Amino acid sequence: MVNYKDLGLVNTREMFAKAVKGGYAIPAFNFNNMEQLQAIIQAAAETKSPVILQVSQGARNYANQTLLRYMAEGAVEYAKELGWEHPQIVLHLDHGDSFELCKSCVDMGFSSVMIDASSLPYEENIALTRKVVEYAHKYDVTVEAELGVLAGVEDEVSAEESHYTRPEEVIDFATRTGCDSLAISIGTSHGAYKFKPEQCTRDPKTGRLVPPPLAFNVLHEIEKKLPGFPIVLHGSSSVPQEYVDIINEHGGKLPDAVGIPEEQLREASKSAVCKINIDSDSRLAMTAAIRKVFDEKPGEFDPRKYLGPARDEMKKLYMHKIINVLGSDGKAE
Ligand code: 13P
Repeated sequence: MVNYKDLGLVNTREMFAKAVKGGYAIPAFNFNNMEQLQAIIQAAAETKSPVILQVSQGARNYANQTLLRYMAEGAVEYAKELGWEHPQIVLHLDHGDSFELCKSCVDMGFSSVMIDASSLPYEENIALTRKVVEYAHKYDVTVEAELGVLAGVEDEVSAEESHYTRPEEVIDFATRTGCDSLAISIGTSHGAYKFKPEQCTRDPKTGRLVPPPLAFNVLHEIEKKLPGFPIVLHGSSSVPQEYVDIINEHGGKLPDAVGIPEEQLREASKSAVCKINIDSDSRLAMTAAIRKVFDEKPGEFDPRKYLGPARDEMKKLYMHKIINVLGSDGKAE
């Protein structure tokens, strides 16, 4: 049993309370490899932004849960080395699907876990979430739960059909589970194809898809029911079209990839939404940078020569999100 506090990590409690009050959101970036982690920490340290490092099922399969945990421990020391005196870094389990998995993460030093039982019937979601909360809170680990179903696919989490969170359920759910934050469904979804073309309109000038707006009315109703309660948005990549273009220009094929417009995330950040999950945008930044090198320098075979530019591009992206979209810069001085 290792407690996250001994690793220099923090849980989300105070971080979220400040974010809700201050009208900004904390970035939750997924990581699978060293370059992504370096870029996240460099961006957070440079902007003095609190940050959540997320480990998904796919990341655990790809890189190993134990190794990722030790990388996060190393990240705290790296942040200090970069001159961030009091780093506020959370290590979070993304989409935990069982009590056993959540328990194993609590036991190995995660400071926050998500139990995603949103695909189960309501009462079963409550029972499983409650069980995780009871265990995690013994060690002061915070718990994110989910109500409502997101469409789309991310790693092993998939849902064909989305349904929005029902505001009439949130008080009962939050009270009976004791969860610390709630992921809701208001139209975001995982991946780089968040909307089918038939759900969008097309900008006649650019020919690009224009996605339907998020259901802010549902968010506001939930806020009214649970004033000040931390709300989480999954599936919040914007799918920057400049990356999609670079990828397509250099041999890739991502037709009609579309995400959540940043102005909507900016608006959400000012509300009770205090955690915004971003994974696909980092994948796109990395892929765009690597494709460019491969295309322009076919003789290159030193991984540092393409992973290095990929890391720089991801850092740029993370800084942009922190400063221009979520507004969390300077909140962890
Ligand atoms: P994106 O696919 O939109 O980046 O969402 C990631 C996510 O929500 C991880 O849980």
